[in-house]
Amino acid sequence: MTDTVKTKLVYFIPPADGSKPWQYVNVDLTQGELQRNYTLEPFEAEIENVRGKESAFSLDTSGFLYARAEAKHKSFTSDEEVEREYYPESIELLKQLTGASRVVLFDHTIRRRRPGELDDGPQKRQPVPVVHVDQTTASSIARVNRHLPPDDAEKLLQRRFQIINLWRPIGKPALDHPLALCDFRSIDVKRDLVSSTLRYPDRDGETFNVRHNPAHKWKYLRGMEPDEVVLIKCFDSVQDGSVAVLTPHTAFDDPTTPPDVPLRESIELRALVFYD
Ligand code: OGA
Ligand code: FE
Repeated sequence: MTDTVKTKLVYFIPPADGSKPWQYVNVDLTQGELQRNYTLEPFEAEIENVRGKESAFSLDTSGFLYARAEAKHKSFTSDEEVEREYYPESIELLKQLTGASRVVLFDHTIRRRRPGELDDGPQKRQPVPVVHVDQTTASSIARVNRHLPPDDAEKLLQRRFQIINLWRPIGKPALDHPLALCDFRSIDVKRDLVSSTLRYPDRDGETFNVRHNPAHKWKYLRGMEPDEVVLIKCFDSVQDGSVAVLTPHTAFDDPTTPPDVPLRESIELRALVFYD
């Protein structure tokens, strides 16, 4: 039996004038200045709870993978401790789950929901209620060049590599505003994905915004626990149609969330994943 919830997911509407979409990130804008040149719109969606069917999904098929994996690090209170304690065990976990020969973590984000407050600055991230993919092909290649020595980067870019996020609830089950993932096989890559510029204070990045498509098949794992993880594929250099390349994802308001559960807290690591 399938267990689905009905909700609304926020998708992207391209700029009417056909220009490339952009948005500012971490930039103090003076009042009245545009934060982005495109609009966002909620659409009805059904999301299937795949609890009990986790093994039906994989990085090469749907583009995401659920696994049970307890972390030794539990506190997630200091970035410095996360890097010293949680990074090394997560590199091992990623290697084990993917078969990769080398994993380089380049970033992490801790999210805590704070209703009514703005998501204001790197230390105060909240769940993201907008369908997106973290990287494009161009920004994925740029990441390899940015985080690896030039000699390594050149060699590594000749073989298969991926960008994968390792997402985990902190402290208690993530019943509040869980993460929904879109099965790669249900997306029309050329039509649905639109590369968009992220304007940071010091540089430009690029992500995919996602246009609504009623064919999208959305999944989530209800009540994900701190000793459960989901690997979210954001990029794969193999793009010949044989494997999933990426997974659109978004936080959502789950109508089955019991009242008074604690607000969601989670951490995601961003990894460059290389194969021999
Ligand atoms: C991510 C992401 C959003 C969230 O892990 O890449 O977009 O709400 N997370 O956790
Ligand atoms: Fe993301």
